[in-house]
Amino acid sequence: METLLLEDTQKDIETAAKIINDGGIVAMPTETVYGLAANALNGKAVAKIFTAKGRPMDNPLIVHISGIDMIEKLGLYREFTEKAKKLAEKFWPGPLTIILPKGDCIPDEVSAGLDTVAVRCPSHKTARMLIELSDKPLAAPSANLSGKPSPTKFQHCVNDLIGKVDGIIDGGDCTVGVESTVITLATNPPRLLRPGGITVEQIEKVIGKIQVDKAVTHQLEEGKTAISPGMKYKHYAPKAQVYLVKGNSFVPYVNRLTNSNTAVICFDEDEKSITGLTYKIGSKNDYNTQAHRIFDVLRQIDKESSINTVYAPLPTTEGVSLAVYNRLIRAAAFRIINSDVFVLGLTGPTGAGKSTVAKVFQQNGYHIVDTDKIAKNILQKNSPILPKIADAFGDDIINSNGEVDRKLLAKRAFKDRESTNKLNSITHPAIYEVSLLEIQEYSDNGFDKFILDAPLLFESNGQRFCNKTLAIISILETRKNRIIKRDNLTPEEAMQRINAQHSNSYYTSKADYVVENNGNFQDVQDKIALLIDNINKEL
Ligand code: TXA
Ligand code: MG
Repeated sequence: METLLLEDTQKDIETAAKIINDGGIVAMPTETVYGLAANALNGKAVAKIFTAKGRPMDNPLIVHISGIDMIEKLGLYREFTEKAKKLAEKFWPGPLTIILPKGDCIPDEVSAGLDTVAVRCPSHKTARMLIELSDKPLAAPSANLSGKPSPTKFQHCVNDLIGKVDGIIDGGDCTVGVESTVITLATNPPRLLRPGGITVEQIEKVIGKIQVDKAVTHQLEEGKTAISPGMKYKHYAPKAQVYLVKGNSFVPYVNRLTNSNTAVICFDEDEKSITGLTYKIGSKNDYNTQAHRIFDVLRQIDKESSINTVYAPLPTTEGVSLAVYNRLIRAAAFRIINSDVFVLGLTGPTGAGKSTVAKVFQQNGYHIVDTDKIAKNILQKNSPILPKIADAFGDDIINSNGEVDRKLLAKRAFKDRESTNKLNSITHPAIYEVSLLEIQEYSDNGFDKFILDAPLLFESNGQRFCNKTLAIISILETRKNRIIKRDNLTPEEAMQRINAQHSNSYYTSKADYVVENNGNFQDVQDKIALLIDNINKEL
């Protein structure tokens, strides 16, 4: 389809109005984000929006009007209630969407089968002119491809929709930058379904106490239906994995983690102190600027193919920051990590007695994250990394039950260094992702000290997830005897395994702390007790 690129002029908006009246679809600027508009009273035209965006048909659209009078003139709501009138008079035109039981004129395509309809009166002059010139209410979702960040610039719409829509109007950058606040008055008390430029505090001043839907800040529990269908879909998902970082140690925490594949979204004040690639979203307390920039930053990051991980500070939930929080937490798939916990990386060669040491830490209140165990689990059926492994090592690595043939994988992956590295480049990021989430889960339950038990800690650059590192070493004879007994090996096999590993000096040169374990449990316990004391003094 040919897409007309239109200017923000009366003549071009007349062209767009004609497209609307002919049953076509046009992307238009609003003060929040760009919207993809069709005549809201024409079900067939509205259906084209869903096709162009790849939007699920059960996700209803917002009807845009140019003035309050359109509501009763067209009968958009079954009843325009007193509360709705109060909100409309106070906040329209502006970034507030009000849901009520729908009037008969609303086609099913707009309400997606619900018996309510969402209406808003935008303040952007171009959107208003398009509504007036076409003399139609306009059904318009955000003008992005489904699942992408909402477009806040003309170019974002062009990138997503060229060839898929009849026209795109260039109205410059959107001022608010996040989509409108959505409130339903169809429930009692009224409920906020999506935070935006109009805050909970502002609304409550007009109509009293409202509820904030749990889905605004929390992941929808499996099996629960969302009151607003849009909340159940994966939203604002950049290609990279996004982590929100809470706590006071954001800067040192991200500085440990950044490398050439990471980006940090930060407040302006922190930019100077952060090493590596940063994207500023505004000053710490300037929530409006943060809202204005957030989607553009997410889109910019999406363009950098080398970035696979993004860290961002966890926003507060007050005022307009609740809208930033709501968008970022979805971009992060609800992954939050705590920068204030203490993580001690534990490593050492095979047979040096790491597990004995881990147990001592456990008795002292540490939670142990066992990466060996995680490594086994991430190869289980249905794990998201299995397709990558099949890609790298052959489809026959996955048997007909959907399970990894571990023997075959070992044969192919350990045949040379290059193959081993290939396997590690798939498994290590997945192992650390699960480790971070385990740390988060336990920190939510009161743990603040962790052991990250990782035999390949340094080889996999896992020390970046740790505040300090501890290597357990042991003299050769002790190690040899231990693994002969533990793994039922001949002395030759034991030596072969030991020789394939790094020497003690590899660990002692890299670790912050080194403890020698020569088999006397009391001795190890005493050494670790001393170390824990030292760590506590430093914390
Ligand atoms: O700022 C905005 O609201 C932008 C601009 C273009 O106006 N529009 C926008 O539309 O963000 P959209 O479709 O991307 O988001 C509308 C949200 C969706 O989550 C949808 O599920 C919800 O509002 N919604 C629409 N009608 C609803 C209804 N009747 N009941 C519950 N939720 C509804
Ligand atoms: Mg949207």
